Amino acid sequence: MISPVTIEEVKNKADIVEVVGDFVTLKRSGSSYKALSPFTNEKTPSFYVVPSKGIFKDFSSGKGGDAITFIREIDGLSYIEAIKFLAQKYGIEIIEEEQSDEAIEAQNKRESLFIVLGFARDFFVDTLWNHEEGKSIGLSYFKERGFTEDSIKDFELGYSMEAWDGLLKAAEQKGYSKELLEEAGLIISKEDKSYDRFRNRVIFPIHNLTGKVIAFGARILTKEKKQPKYLNSPETELYNKSKILYGIFFAKKEIRKKDNCFLVEGYTDVISMHQTGIHNVVSSSGTALTEDQIKLIRRYTENVTIIFDGDQAGIKASIRGIDMLLAGGLNVKAVALPDGEDPDSYARQLGTSAFTHFIEEESQDIIQFKTRLFMEEAQGDPVKKAAMIKDIVVSITKIDDPVKRTVYIKECSYLMGIDEAVLVAEQNKILLSERKKPGQETRPFEPLVDMPLEEDDKLEGIDILKVIEFQEKESIRVLVNYGKNTIKGQEVEDESLIKYFLAEVEEIKFTNPIYYEILEIFKERLKAGEIIDGDYLLQHGSEQIKKTVVEFMTNKYELSENWEKKYKIHIPKENEILRDVTYTNILRLKFRIIQHLIHEESQKLKEASDSDLDHYLDEISELKKIEMDIAKILGNVTAR
Ligand code: UTP
Ligand code: MN
Repeated sequence: MISPVTIEEVKNKADIVEVVGDFVTLKRSGSSYKALSPFTNEKTPSFYVVPSKGIFKDFSSGKGGDAITFIREIDGLSYIEAIKFLAQKYGIEIIEEEQSDEAIEAQNKRESLFIVLGFARDFFVDTLWNHEEGKSIGLSYFKERGFTEDSIKDFELGYSMEAWDGLLKAAEQKGYSKELLEEAGLIISKEDKSYDRFRNRVIFPIHNLTGKVIAFGARILTKEKKQPKYLNSPETELYNKSKILYGIFFAKKEIRKKDNCFLVEGYTDVISMHQTGIHNVVSSSGTALTEDQIKLIRRYTENVTIIFDGDQAGIKASIRGIDMLLAGGLNVKAVALPDGEDPDSYARQLGTSAFTHFIEEESQDIIQFKTRLFMEEAQGDPVKKAAMIKDIVVSITKIDDPVKRTVYIKECSYLMGIDEAVLVAEQNKILLSERKKPGQETRPFEPLVDMPLEEDDKLEGIDILKVIEFQEKESIRVLVNYGKNTIKGQEVEDESLIKYFLAEVEEIKFTNPIYYEILEIFKERLKAGEIIDGDYLLQHGSEQIKKTVVEFMTNKYELSENWEKKYKIHIPKENEILRDVTYTNILRLKFRIIQHLIHEESQKLKEASDSDLDHYLDEISELKKIEMDIAKILGNVTAR
């Protein structure tokens, strides 16, 4: 048992900013620090560190606490493991107190797993370097394929002998139980026979974020057809392959420093690139990236460069996976290696400087990359081309940032030689249909029409006040065009749009004076028992109102007709989905108002004295909840 004295010392010495800063890029914000939550895929920072209190608070996941809690959450460690980790970081001597028998028995299972996996690693490493079979087969294999002794040592590569129970015997001699070995994924037990999982293979240990071994990948050296090239550890209490990336422990510092992460396919690619001097590289171990892995990358950077092996079929297969990276808010670049090469072979062939140069020169933005790739393939085949255009626009819609999307649409229009308006229409169609899928991941608000944002006006990506005004405009636009319409309800009876609208906006005060005035006229007329629309305003409104109304009444959805003529694809018109449009427009407006409030409160938080901190943190927390609730609805609005 760790002595309370040690725990006390850890608590005193652990600096919350330092501890968190090892995992998250913190930005100073008044008396506290701010970052993107390492626990979720959020796009705007709501993760705070308050040094004066020694705490962190993450509004997007609700997690919060001191440095020890943070380490536990971020690395999935037990309390004891977290204490040990911090003690090591701060050079604090760990004083162990005598353990009772029960305490030994109850010793944390995870810790035992770490220990036995560490033992296995040492065993495989020892076999590689010191045993005849290991040296003549394993070590010579690594050397032949160009790994230096340093790389082999750094990555703790090893070898498992041909024997059925090499590891099992050694482990049992050390007192490790069969059950533990099995739970660690090291041995397989069938009936009453147990044998080593990894035999006659070279071993690649898989490390967690803190550098501890949690699993192994083992490569066969012979050409046996029946055996897979790599055998990997099964999922265990410590190893969840969809949550870890191979090489992340060795790469994390450099990823942050370079603000970019290279993504490759295999274990050997990671090692070769390291050897070439490129350290910011990880591998998803041959499988498609998962959301958790994307989150992991986002702790360190928002920029990813995928290095594709040089085989066309492979690239086409894996390019589907990029939509997830884009949806995860990452900036993605790609580079394809020449035919038949992978990063491992090509890095060795070119050598450090030529390889690095190649990667730098050849990397291109992923949407461009995909567009070029597809256009090549679809040459002279209009049907294929139409399908690919759609595919590419789908990728673009995965990007949350409307400004970025606009840029991409422009670029693709140029690359594909297709009218920009056609792409915009296709984009709108996809965004619209996506919002209607029930049970979908929350997708932050999307405008149907591109939001006119100036670079200079941007404040942390978006000027909220401008966006609020934009949403006001969209709401009023619907009112002016369709004020006399009736909307069909599912739960409620048919209702006039204007009544529905006014009930929804009751507690909102429009900021734009013209829109405010228009809304007042609608209210007034309704009180007098008259339902109006834009036509009334064109007759009775002030010059300014008339001008605004004319602008609103010109049809923005002409675009879709183009598309329909060309491709015979039906795009729902605004009036077909009136209730939905009205509802979402107002909801988006509310969403932005809440965000504005959050922004204001956050500003106050920066200047807050320590005694006020709690108040503001609570306040923001409440608002964040509302924001999330609305975002959820916006992500799930169904046609009514
Ligand atoms: P590769 O076949 O490209 O392996 O699979 P590699 O790492 O380049 O190995 P070498 O260079 O041929 O020796 C890419 C990754 O897919 C996973 C492994 O993680 C591998 O590194 N994989 C592949 C498996 O898990 N099982 C397999 O049978 C094959
Ligand atoms: Mn490979």
